[in-house]
Amino acid sequence: MEIPLFFYMAYKDLDRLSPGSEDTTLEVLDKIDADGNLNILDIACGVGTSTLLIAGYFKDSTVEAFDLFKHYIDRLDEKIAENNFQDRVFTYVMDMRDPDFANEDFDIVFCEASAEIMGFKKALKDWKRLLKPNGYMIVSDVSWLQKPSAESRDFWKNTYAEVDTIENKISQIKEDYEFVDYVVVPKSDWEDYYKKLEVNLNKLASDKSAKDFVKQLRKEIEVYRRNSDDYSYVFYIMRKLEMK
Ligand SMILES: C[S@@+](CC[C@H](N)C(=O)[O-])C[C@H]1O[C@@H](n2cnc3c(N)ncnc32)[C@H](O)[C@@H]1O
Repeated sequence: MEIPLFFYMAYKDLDRLSPGSEDTTLEVLDKIDADGNLNILDIACGVGTSTLLIAGYFKDSTVEAFDLFKHYIDRLDEKIAENNFQDRVFTYVMDMRDPDFANEDFDIVFCEASAEIMGFKKALKDWKRLLKPNGYMIVSDVSWLQKPSAESRDFWKNTYAEVDTIENKISQIKEDYEFVDYVVVPKSDWEDYYKKLEVNLNKLASDKSAKDFVKQLRKEIEVYRRNSDDYSYVFYIMRKLEMK
């Protein structure tokens, strides 16, 4: 699937399509008690900065990564070649709603800042079949860190209805998985990401067809800056129980 032009321009040359950093990804991976010849899946990998970090961290692993947009996969393929990962990192254009992999194929399934596309609860239910027994699921989702302001609540009610407290997310996880731990994406990751995004949005300012899209992203940034204590992406780390 091809990416809309103004969408492409907004995220052009960003190394991440969501707030994140090497430190945060590595903090998350440190929570996993597994090594050796692992099979790992990165769902909605974007340009694959985390895909490559995962491949570097689990040195004997095979990593498969997919995204709906070919443009991002092409960019990731370039980086795979630059890093000499061609023999163990593989990419696909694929829809997260219908991942074309066998049941129990993976030791780890990772999805950063993308589960909201189909909804956290549905994602956990649908993707569970991909995990081997005792395999790890790592999914980040926007979550309340404290009682949100009216502005935060209104913004997210209209953007992603499943934003919820960390406590409630953990309860949802426990319906189907063993909960392991969580990691909150720090404010510095959001600021770095938004600063880079704003540079691109400024370049798009004269494009009338992108007006509504740019307005929505600027609003997202303003709301975050006024309410950065209220919410963040939170990585949830969980395990598929053998019997569940
Ligand atoms: C917010 S970005 C996150 C990308 C990457 N995980 C990161 O954190 O940089 C969301 C990603 O989901 C991809 N995407 C959107 N709809 C999708 C779908 N139905 N299936 C797979 N990927 C999808 C987008 O192309 C984009 O790369």
